[in-house]
Amino acid sequence: MRVAIYVAIAENGVIGRDGGLPWRLSTDLKRFKADTMGKPIIMGRKTYEGIGRPLPGRLNIVVTRDKSWRAEGVEVAHTLEAAIQLARVRARCMTGIDEVCVIGGGQIYAQALPLADRLHVTHVLAAVDGDAHFPPIDAETWRVVSSQEVPAGEKDSHATRYSVYERRRPIL
Ligand SMILES: NC(=O)c1ccc[n+]([C@@H]2O[C@H](COP(=O)([O-])OP(=O)(O)OC[C@H]3O[C@@H](n4cnc5c(N)ncnc54)[C@H](OP(=O)(O)O)[C@@H]3O)[C@@H](O)[C@H]2O)c1
Repeated sequence: MRVAIYVAIAENGVIGRDGGLPWRLSTDLKRFKADTMGKPIIMGRKTYEGIGRPLPGRLNIVVTRDKSWRAEGVEVAHTLEAAIQLARVRARCMTGIDEVCVIGGGQIYAQALPLADRLHVTHVLAAVDGDAHFPPIDAETWRVVSSQEVPAGEKDSHATRYSVYERRRPIL
C-alpha cells in the first residue's frame, strides 16, 4: 500500500496562510477530488479545522495529540505512523485501493515526506505570502514521472504545473 502526498506548492514553498489556502484553484480541486475519491485521506487537525467538515466519499483520518478530540464522520489517530497504519488496515477491506493519501498541512507533510512513495504536486506558478510551507523536494531522492502544464481557468487565480514524483529508491 503506497503512501502518496497530495499538495499544492507555490514557487517559494508556501502552501497555506492563516489556516487556509492563499489561492483559488478550482481546476486543481476537481482533480484532487477525483484522484482521492474512495481512498483513505490523512490530515493534521489544523487542516481539518480549516476545511471544517469531512471530505465526502473518502475515509477521513485526523492526526492530533489531543486524546479528547473528536469530530463526526472522521477517525482520529495520535501519531502520523498510527494514522498510516489505520489507513492501511481500513484500505485492505476496500476494493481497488492501492494508496493512502496524506493531504496536509505543513506539519504533517514535513513528517510524511520521509515515509512517502509518491508525491502529487500542483506547482503554483507564483511566489505567494504565507505561513505554512512544504520542505524542498530533493532531486536526488525524487524523480518526476509525469508533468502537465495547466493554464489558469476562469475560476483559477494562478496557472499551475501538475507533477507526479516517485522515490528513486524504495524505502527499505
Ligand atoms: N497547499 C496545500 O496543498 C495544503 C494542503 C493542506 C493544508 N494546507 C494548509 O496548511 C496549513 C495548515 O498546516 P499546519 O502545519 O499549520 O497544520 P497541520 O499540519 O494541518 O496540523 C497540525 C496539527 O496536527 C497535529 N499533529 C502534527 N504532528 C503530529 C504528530 N506527530 N502526532 C499527533 N498529532 C500531530 C497537531 O494537532 P493538535 O494541535 O490538535 O495536537 C498539530 O497542531 C493551512 O494553511 C492549510 O490551508 C495546504
